[in-house]
Amino acid sequence: MVVFKISQKTKYSLSVIWIGLATLTTFCLGVYNPNKKPPHPHIIVVTLRDMGWDDVSFHGNPEIPTPNIDRIANHGVILQQYYTTPNCEDSVSSYRTGKHPIHYKKSMESGENARVTYDIWNYLDIQSYVIREVGLIDCKDTDIPFYPWDVIQKAENVLKQQDQIYSLFLQVNFPQLHADYPEQIPDEYLTRAKNIPFEARKIYAGMIMQLDRAVGHLVRILYDTGILHDAILIFTTLTGGTKGNNFYTWPSTYPFRGGNGTLWEGGSRALGFVYSNRIARRGRVSYGLVHINDWLPTIFRLAGGNPDHVVESDGMDVWDSINNDDYSPRMEILYGINGNKAAVRVGDFKLITGESYVPLSPRPLAKGELDNLIKPITVWDSELECADYPDAIGCWPDIEPCLFNVRFDPCERNNVAYYMPQTVEALTYTLNKYNTSAVYRDKRSLEEWDNTYKDLSLKLTLIKLEKSRKTLDRSKIGV
Ligand SMILES: *[C@@H]1O[C@H](CO)[C@@H](O)[C@H](O)[C@H]1NC(C)=O
Ligand SMILES: *[C@@H]1O[C@H](CO)[C@@H](O)[C@H](O)[C@H]1NC(C)=O
Repeated sequence: MVVFKISQKTKYSLSVIWIGLATLTTFCLGVYNPNKKPPHPHIIVVTLRDMGWDDVSFHGNPEIPTPNIDRIANHGVILQQYYTTPNCEDSVSSYRTGKHPIHYKKSMESGENARVTYDIWNYLDIQSYVIREVGLIDCKDTDIPFYPWDVIQKAENVLKQQDQIYSLFLQVNFPQLHADYPEQIPDEYLTRAKNIPFEARKIYAGMIMQLDRAVGHLVRILYDTGILHDAILIFTTLTGGTKGNNFYTWPSTYPFRGGNGTLWEGGSRALGFVYSNRIARRGRVSYGLVHINDWLPTIFRLAGGNPDHVVESDGMDVWDSINNDDYSPRMEILYGINGNKAAVRVGDFKLITGESYVPLSPRPLAKGELDNLIKPITVWDSELECADYPDAIGCWPDIEPCLFNVRFDPCERNNVAYYMPQTVEALTYTLNKYNTSAVYRDKRSLEEWDNTYKDLSLKLTLIKLEKSRKTLDRSKIGV
């Protein structure tokens, strides 16, 4: 056996070289250097909690100006048919595991399948990403103050320390936007929101404006450190908007029906956009279907991995659709199944059943307010409008399932179930398929599972994943 012995002297000179290198690296950090390319793009995911579809000006709301967010969205790709789940916790687990909650929960409950639950960090870890997360995703309603600047400060530290020969995955979680703490909003923002006549909405608007400025600052740091040049930025909310008792108080899901916790469009149709100078066709609205499950395989592919190797995923790699306006591989969205309440979308059609009726809600503006406000300039087609259907049949899904063409009728005004019984039947079939799959995965034995994944290369990936799972010490990488 040959053993290499390093003499004391060599050790010394090696350490001198190391110190030299370290100093050099420190000097070179924080500036864009075209010779220092990460092997894969940096990926920055920004989660925005409690923000509604209509709380940004790029979707046409003239009430709350969001110039920084608009700039990124308008120069990137606005995901017009993007869905999360109706529930914050479910969305977080969907995003992290690439599994729909009906499958994720089952696999967590049954111990034997638990070993297939890898999350996005595991996948990025095998691609040798530097993984950082700042801010907490906290789905509970806590009384933590609104602290976007803390989050930005932490993100800044991470970005300034990043050596650009490594690929960075940074997740930035902005805090909840609850209108309960007016004292947390600097006067400056309240003054800017002074035209909003509803007190709680004014406070909420103040938070959004502060958040918008924080987002602008984040992009500025990304630019200054040169990271933006090789980065892909993904922005997502974690549910549709929240509907409180009073729609002047809370985020606005206009023009959709319902809010979080419901199976109406307002519950899961969410704010999402992507920015990168690598995007082939940007400055547009994308109509490709995207579900929050899709980020894991999509990000894994961007990180140089093979999205087909993602284990038991409900997600799909939707990058070609985002990047190049190709058709999205996704044809179906499962909004959720909760007892006899369920909704599914296939192509443009959505079937909703068991859910309680909710009325349409207007944009939260005071009477005549719109007349005094300048309409924001938006990318073509980014403001949704709902047609009037004078002869529309209403929808009470707790009495009878309803069918909508949500591409052209996103407000769920015109229930076409009566006219299209075959489509209702087809979608009911799809829904039942999902409903049984929730049980099916639960019952599958380990042997069956192994047969499904007998592909050798996949097994190798799994072994690598097992290894990385062991070496990943989260407490060390959390910031
Ligand atoms: C909707 O979101 C609000 C605010 O985050 C939360 O208080 C509420 O519990 C959520 N509702 C449901 C049904 O998830
Ligand atoms: C899903 O299946 C369960 C039984 O396994 C049933 O009770 C429930 O009503 C089904 N839901 C729908 C929406 O079909």
